[in-house]
Amino acid sequence: MLTVTDLSIRFERYGRGLARTAIVPVHHLDLDVGPGEIVAVIGASGSGKSLLAHAVLGILPDNCRVDGEIRFKGEPLTPARQKALRGREMVLVPQSVGFLNPLKNVGAQVRRAAILGGAAGSAAPRVTDAAFSRYGLAPPVQALFPFQVSGGMARRVLTATATVGRADLIVADEPTTGLDREASEQSMAFLRQLADEGRSVMVISHDLSAVLPVADRVAVFLSGTTVEGAPAGSFNGHPEALRHPYSRDMWRALPDHEFDPGPDRAAGPAGSPGAAGSGGSGGAANADDGQADGCPYARRCARADAACVGMFPPKRHFGRDFVRCRHA
Ligand SMILES: Nc1ncnc2c1ncn2[C@@H]1O[C@H](COP(=O)(O)OP(=O)(O)OP(=O)(O)O)[C@@H](O)[C@H]1O
Ligand code: SF4
Ligand SMILES: [Mg+2]
Repeated sequence: MLTVTDLSIRFERYGRGLARTAIVPVHHLDLDVGPGEIVAVIGASGSGKSLLAHAVLGILPDNCRVDGEIRFKGEPLTPARQKALRGREMVLVPQSVGFLNPLKNVGAQVRRAAILGGAAGSAAPRVTDAAFSRYGLAPPVQALFPFQVSGGMARRVLTATATVGRADLIVADEPTTGLDREASEQSMAFLRQLADEGRSVMVISHDLSAVLPVADRVAVFLSGTTVEGAPAGSFNGHPEALRHPYSRDMWRALPDHEFDPGPDRAAGPAGSPGAAGSGGSGGAANADDGQADGCPYARRCARADAACVGMFPPKRHFGRDFVRCRHA
């Protein structure tokens, strides 16, 4: 359904004296999401997860250049196609609640999304009521404006907006932020239900314990690239089921696995790479040529050698799974 190949995103800025500087926060990024599948995108803060989501939907700022290829249903996602499909066949649950229109009540926003997503105008109120009820939002909430709802309610409204239609691809960027455990599990269970109906779901989340039980596959992000693609079940067993040292450190940081630095971590600078969202490197690639210099994990990896430091690791495939580590 969605295939991202060798994606890079480059921002250019003009400094003093018209000197041009560039950063490449996303590079060598590969990912695919099949029909009926939930892919969990996990990685530290600043590793490029939201940029990927925005690149897929075609809502990146103008001052960036996107290279590589994004295909949806087998066809390249050109800007024109993204515009035509956005909100209809592919939808985003944005990370920021600032995406809600401040001038419209939240009920009207979900109704509009329902119509854009294929509901007949006469059916939109009923579909909207059902979406509000599904996310535990009482009917009077529909009349409220975004500034009148709490952060957790706004997050549920955004998820309702994205899931009220019949989009085939749902990209959910941190959909459980601000939700309690029960609401978070319900939200994830509904995404699972949508996937079981044949939709494709990409869920970006720091909350591994919320997303892993419903996910089919996991894409591990580090410093703007995907270092591993693996079945979600790999995170349930032994860390050796994961091929990349960073993925194994994430495994060790899960609440059920008492954090133990393990053999993959080099003794060195503080900063846990383990918890998605904490301490990991969000650095960009070399700004001059858009290429990363060495392995983004080299500074913290116990197995790093001179080759790891000097050269970006090539991608190795194991069936559908892959890893970017010279020694995997
Ligand atoms: N508009 C922009 N201009 C320049 N750089 C940007 C811009 N947006 C993002 N970046 C850079 O891209 C990096 C990745 O950003 P992104 O928002 O995708 O991270 P993320 O993985 O979603 O993080 P988080 O988990 O905190 O949401 C950031 O660290 C930042 O350096
Ligand atoms: S390429 Fe080298 S530094 Fe990078 S994760 Fe693999 S062993 Fe560690
Ligand atoms: Mg983000």
